[in-house]
Amino acid sequence: MNPIRVRPITPDDIPTVAAWMVQTPLWQRYQLTVERATLNFEKAFERGEVLLVADAGADNLACGFAWCLPQGGFGRSMYLRLIGVRQERARAGVGAALLKGAEDAALKVGRELFLLVSDFNVDAQRFYQRQGYSQIGAIPGYVLPDVTELLYWKQLQ
Ligand SMILES: CC(C)(COP(=O)(O)OP(=O)(O)OC[C@H]1O[C@@H](n2cnc3c(N)ncnc32)[C@H](O)[C@@H]1OP(=O)(O)O)[C@@H](O)C(=O)NCCC(=O)NCCS
Repeated sequence: MNPIRVRPITPDDIPTVAAWMVQTPLWQRYQLTVERATLNFEKAFERGEVLLVADAGADNLACGFAWCLPQGGFGRSMYLRLIGVRQERARAGVGAALLKGAEDAALKVGRELFLLVSDFNVDAQRFYQRQGYSQIGAIPGYVLPDVTELLYWKQLQ
């Protein structure tokens, strides 16, 4: 695959990302629609939240994204709200590049990055653990009644 470039999102990227995001089994379980994904990104963009996308060559523009809330971690640290990579482009380092971009942004706010991951999403848990994250809590039924959200963090310095 072509070299991976991580950059801030532009409004033109939003339809691209929303279209592949709803094909992802994780977000299908959360019943995400193109309309809601689009609105979420547009509002986050307007609020000036950290929205990164990854390009992997001209054929793979915006094939991954990371969305962070600068003070979403207890008002003092960055919170990684969502990260995703287009299924066809997974397992090629795009997620790791986006996480690195999120961590660089987090260091401007504090010394750690927090995130939640669903209990059933064992692939993402392994991905985060390999990237140096550890589980420090669990919130049962927080988003979906039958799913526990696991709280992970990484101390960046
Ligand atoms: C979790 C997710 C973001 C990871 O993104 P990704 O681009 O696949 O991540 P990477 O390629 O950097 O790493 C994933 C795995 O591929 C492996 N990998 C990386 N480059 C590779 C390559 N060139 N060849 C083979 N394997 C490779 C990594 O070792 C890693 O293994 P691990 O998961 O066992 O740790 C992505 O799978 C995804 O979008 N999942 C659905 C949405 C989701 O679960 N989001 C997280 C919760 S919000």
